Amino acid sequence: MNNLKNLRGTVDLLPNQLIKWQNVEKIILEQLSRASIKEIRTPILEMTELFIRGIGEGTDVVSKEMYTFLDRGERSCTLRPEGTASVARALIQEGMTSNPLQKIWYMGPMFRYERPQAGRQRQFHQLGVEFIGYESVRSDVEIIALAWDILGKLGIKELNLEINSLGDITDRLNFQESFLKWLERNKDSLDLDSQNRINKNPLRILDSKNIQTKNILENSPKLFNFLSEKSLERYLELKNQLEFLKIPFKENFNLVRGLDYYTHTAFEITSGALGSQATVCGGGRYDNLFKDMGGKDTPAIGFAIGLERLILLAGQELDISRRTDIYIVNQGLLAENFATDLSRKLRKYDLIVELDLSGASFSKQLKKANKLNSKCVIVIGDQEAANKEFVIRLFDKEKSKNTEEAIPFDNYTKLDQWLNNNLLSN
Ligand code: HAM
Repeated sequence: MNNLKNLRGTVDLLPNQLIKWQNVEKIILEQLSRASIKEIRTPILEMTELFIRGIGEGTDVVSKEMYTFLDRGERSCTLRPEGTASVARALIQEGMTSNPLQKIWYMGPMFRYERPQAGRQRQFHQLGVEFIGYESVRSDVEIIALAWDILGKLGIKELNLEINSLGDITDRLNFQESFLKWLERNKDSLDLDSQNRINKNPLRILDSKNIQTKNILENSPKLFNFLSEKSLERYLELKNQLEFLKIPFKENFNLVRGLDYYTHTAFEITSGALGSQATVCGGGRYDNLFKDMGGKDTPAIGFAIGLERLILLAGQELDISRRTDIYIVNQGLLAENFATDLSRKLRKYDLIVELDLSGASFSKQLKKANKLNSKCVIVIGDQEAANKEFVIRLFDKEKSKNTEEAIPFDNYTKLDQWLNNNLLSN
């Protein structure tokens, strides 16, 4: 009895499930390269301090959810819970001298010790996009439009974009002062979780899912009312530009996001088609992060899309893989050598060629070809090897006829012609 299992909250992605992942990733990569966004890869393992300083000690992510351990050199290491802090670290470390304006993306596993449920895992995947060095409202709009268009390109329906402005540090401090006074007065009416946040991270209380707390919060001071004229202007301009692009949005003055680095624009995209874990994309501006982490003063904005949630939402048409073009049935010592040689030649074309390695009977191999719905079959046995010639058979179900051709192993011109006429032309 084998009781070795994957860890709770982690998932094996098996070949048939990965068809959809790969199709989704392909569409995403096309969209990113069309927008001229470049890839960055940072380590999965980082110094714990990076996330404490980058994301904030009082956040749930840092205080409750990180996979942190001492390595053999007694250094505290953490499996990255998100990508933004790592990107900032990498660019600060590199000096950012070559390119002060960068549009970059990353895709890969992230780790958070949360209670697993549909759309929530401990090892999950994100696509992140970060615009570094960009300050204008237009960069906020391009980032939001990019996320919106990626989701649209994947045919995802029932999308809702929510936006808010968290202002700058001064706006937030002014708000915090008044909000803390209000919290003290209303402390006893809040849920326990929110009470505990008063001293650690009061802003997060605004995001509480507790119904009673939500009702009480209706009457609390609103961060939005503490925005300076400049911050408000910026926010109004964001709304104007989104309206111009006809990207529908809803204002949510309680949207604060779970990470401390945000300033000004914060946004989330949810889908009605997801259950309780409805947020498929979250992002915002983080103008102070680079400076706070010891880098130059660098404005920036970005987002991350949860790929597991994206896969749940993406349509079934993305679950289909490309059909096998040629299946090579082969048996016998010499025949198998010819078959291997031929498969290598055929793979120089843009064709999916499967070489049967089972050594099973011809009929079993042919059954497999049939099951795969291969467009063509080549059969190579002792006789074909002796004659130095193989037969390729095309199944044309639409015309309910099969086209066969005998081709000598060394006649590349004939092979080329046949492939061009029958497979490559479609
Ligand atoms: P976040 O809101 O923490 O933002 O995560 C972004 C997205 O990752 C979520 O909306 C969700 O789709 C997905 N996600 C988060 N946790 C889990 C989980 N446990 N299981 C499955 N999916 C999950 C960030 O991480 C920021 N770094 C985004 C950002 C980039 N802001 C600026 N630049």
